[in-house]
Parts: sequence; structure tokens; C-alpha cells
Amino acid sequence: MQALRRILREMPDVELLWGEPMINLTSFRIGGPVACVARPLGEYALRELLAAVRNEGIPHVVLGGGSNVLAPDGPWNALVIQVSRTAGKMLKLCADGAQIRLVHVGAGVKLSTLLRFCVCEELEGLEALVGIPGTVGGAVVMNAGSREGCIADALVWVDLLDESGGKRRVFRDELPAGYRNMGLPEKAVVLGACMELRRTKKGSLKGRMARIMKRRMESQPIGFPSAGCIFKNPPGMSAGALIDRAGLKGLRFGDAEVSMRHANWIINRGKARAADVVALMEHVEGVVFSRFGIQLEREVRILGEGNAFH
Ligand code: EPU
Repeated sequence: MQALRRILREMPDVELLWGEPMINLTSFRIGGPVACVARPLGEYALRELLAAVRNEGIPHVVLGGGSNVLAPDGPWNALVIQVSRTAGKMLKLCADGAQIRLVHVGAGVKLSTLLRFCVCEELEGLEALVGIPGTVGGAVVMNAGSREGCIADALVWVDLLDESGGKRRVFRDELPAGYRNMGLPEKAVVLGACMELRRTKKGSLKGRMARIMKRRMESQPIGFPSAGCIFKNPPGMSAGALIDRAGLKGLRFGDAEVSMRHANWIINRGKARAADVVALMEHVEGVVFSRFGIQLEREVRILGEGNAFH
């Protein structure tokens, strides 16, 4: 990490944390120390940093809210670039029609902040995201959503930095968005997004959000550290129902447990390690495959030496 220290010395607009435990950066509350966490304080700093680390071949990962990832246990020799301070304050109306509003949101804005804004401004179109943790950037990359809809439904365009560090605006109809995947170009970093929302009445909007949240609270282990659903639903099926039918609810490896409330969630009962979670996922995949002949696909992103960008 000598090269990293040299690069970072020349970058005043980047906040640094050396050796930060990843438990502090992930909703799973799992993960050992990472060599460095860098928080660029603006778009220019982010571009400079990305260009420098790509140039030097330093392994790095760009992280939003850390809510859909599993970080490695061991000391992790990589750079985590967090964009929450880069584009975290942008939240403004950029167009004003009679019934339609365009809202431009920075990638680092929390989804919960965006949803509160929607309630205050009486704008509908993002209710499906209520209760989903994380940031707008992460939600756009993953096309976060629920049965009620996904973020692509409201998306107009995404501003991103492409692999060569160029800034690009990509419109929704150029993106092959699908289930839990927006289809953004590889290695692209989201800077912000524009949403098209409709004017509505605060009372009915709050009511709809409360109903979605209530269903979520009743059916999901909200409150425990987790990464949300671990597996994608196979086409036309529910991963949770398959894992449940395989009798795996409550199965525990170390402090990682298949939730009793919803079988597609693995919760951290305290001191779960990434190795416990991976072993539990592999076990679940094996049992579901042997019982039903279905190969589950992981929704959670596993971070580690193998999949950091260079
Ligand atoms: N089910 C079981 N046992 C379980 C869990 C579920 O039998 O342990 C059954 C339910 O009874 C229901 C069916 O499976 O008949 C579907 O379950 P649920 O309604 O809970 O929805 P899901 O398909 O498991 C999806 C998303 C969630 C989202 C909910 C609500 C995926 C992988 N999951 O869950 O998203 O919150 O719908 O809209 O697409 C996430 O992506 O992280 C996530 C939590």
C-alpha cells in the first residue's frame, strides 16, 4: 500500500480512515480491517482518486451504504471508496411540471432521506423502496426494489463516471435494467440520478408507505444486522419459500443464522464471520439444489481480493 499512501498524500479533498474495520461500514456488521477507506469530498476528488488508483493498479471497491455486501474477515488489502461524502447533499427539484416533478439526487443520499423528501414534497413513485437501507447510488446499481416496484420504474437518467473517468449521462431507455440489476456499464461509478415523480396527497402517500413498511416488518427480520435477501428469487419462484420448504430456517453456522422469520435472510446474531455466512450460503445452495434441482443465485455481493477492481 506504499503506492496508495503516495497517491493519497497528494489528495487533500479525500477523507481517510486507515485500518477501519468493515463491520463499521456494512449493514451485516461483518468484516475485518480494510487497508484504507477513502471518502472523496466532491466529484473532482473522486475522479482524481479513481484515475490514480486505476493507473497504479490498486485494488479498490466503490461502496454506497454497504447494505448489500459481505466484507471479508481478514485484514483486507484494498481501498474502499465511499461516495457518501461525494454526492451526499444534492437533493433538489430540477424541473417543475403540473403533475410531474423531476428530482435529481446525489448517489450518496440515503434512500430513507429521499423517501422523507418525497413525503414532504408530496411526490409518489418511490414507495416500493420504503424500508430498504442504503444509498441512491447502490440502489441504482442493483436496481433495488420490492414486489411493489423498483427504482428503474422512476428513473429518467443516471450520471456516472465511466471506466476511463469520463462523465456520462445515460438515459433509462438505454439501460437493460432487469431484476436486481440496472445493467450499467462495468466499472461505472454512479454520481447521481434523476427520478420522475408524480404529485400526490401526503395522506395517501404516507398510508401506502406505512402499509408496505408494516408488511415488511411482519415478514422480515428488520432490526438484526443483515444484508437483506441473500438470494435472488428464481424466475416465478420465491427463494425464501424454497429454503423454508427445505427445512433450513434457524440453521446456524457460528453466529450466522437463516432467519426464522424469513428464510431468504441470513442474520448476524452477534459476532458472525464472513466465513460463517459463506459456508451457510453454500450449504443452503447445496440443499436447495439437491431437493428441488434449482441453483440459487446470490443477491448479496461478496467483497474480497478476487473481485476488487484494479
Ligand atoms: N415464504 C415462505 N417462507 C419464508 C419466506 C417466504 O414460505 O421463510 C413465502 C411467502 O409466504 C410468500 C413467498 O414466499 O408466499 C414470497 O415471500 P415474500 O412475500 O416475503 O417476498 P420475497 O419474494 O421473499 C421479495 C424481495 C424482497 C422484498 C419483498 C417484499 C427478493 C429476493 N426479495 O421477497 O427484497 O422486500 O419481496 O416486496 O426479490 C431484498 O431484495 O433484499 C429484499 C428483501
